Amino acid sequence: MKDHIPSVIITGASGGIGQALARRFAEGGYRLFLQGFHHMDLLRRQAEELARDFCIPVLPLQADLSDYAALTKMFETILKEDPAPDCLVNNAGVAFFSLLQDARVEDWDLVMNTNARSVFGCCKQVLPSMLRRHGGTIVNISSMWGGAGSSTETLYSASKGAVNAFTRALGKEVAPSGVRVNAIACGVIDTPMNDMLSPEERAALAEEIPMGRFAQPSEVADLAWYLAGPQSSYLTAQVITLDGGYL
Ligand SMILES: NC(=O)c1ccc[n+]([C@@H]2O[C@H](COP(=O)([O-])OP(=O)(O)OC[C@H]3O[C@@H](n4cnc5c(N)ncnc54)[C@H](OP(=O)(O)O)[C@@H]3O)[C@@H](O)[C@H]2O)c1
Repeated sequence: MKDHIPSVIITGASGGIGQALARRFAEGGYRLFLQGFHHMDLLRRQAEELARDFCIPVLPLQADLSDYAALTKMFETILKEDPAPDCLVNNAGVAFFSLLQDARVEDWDLVMNTNARSVFGCCKQVLPSMLRRHGGTIVNISSMWGGAGSSTETLYSASKGAVNAFTRALGKEVAPSGVRVNAIACGVIDTPMNDMLSPEERAALAEEIPMGRFAQPSEVADLAWYLAGPQSSYLTAQVITLDGGYL
């Protein structure tokens, strides 16, 4: 039995969806482990605000999750603080746009290692304690393109396809041990990941979405919160599409 407040590890917490995830779990009274990479000032500021506003422990951590050694080192710190985290949200990721013939093998490695191998690595770090105590949840933030495939996003689509298959397989593997694993296949979410779109491109894209708009990061966070908690106790090994009816 845990004698402390529930905890969550959120990767990519310095990004648009990650910040919303951190706020949602803070509202729910969770202890937060928040990972960022380039934007640590922003992450530290947010960590201070959440700790103050919600009276919870918040630890910001810097790691390049495409680097397996850095990932492992980050978990040494986390597991020393809390050897039995309740929830892991694998949210860190990079977008990558290119024709396949222009993509280099280094691009493949970066996209696959950041988006897919990091999910493998982070799950391996939290699973031993989750399996031991027969509880815990993992939520992977994936993309609708992982199932559908997007032209000029072949590497990104492949990385998210890997996350989807990984989620379904691991969900089945650990279900008998009381651990649940699900993914959210996001449509277009209004975050810095889409900053490269011009106002005209944004408007055209929004028009293609039946709901007529991008999703807000908080809408992803609300679904992740549902998947992480006891409300979804019979739901596992699923990839849930959150795309406003786009696909
Ligand atoms: N926005 C969308 O339309 C959309 C659609 C489908 C799926 N998604 C997925 O949602 C997740 C979050 O994306 P977002 O929209 O919030 O994008 P974002 O604002 O660009 O955030 C990306 C996050 O990933 C972190 N990150 C990037 N490379 C990293 C690395 N090598 N090591 C560790 N962390 C790294 C970033 O950290 P730093 O900034 O500190 O480096 C940042 O916190 C991603 O997995 C993305 O693929 C987003």
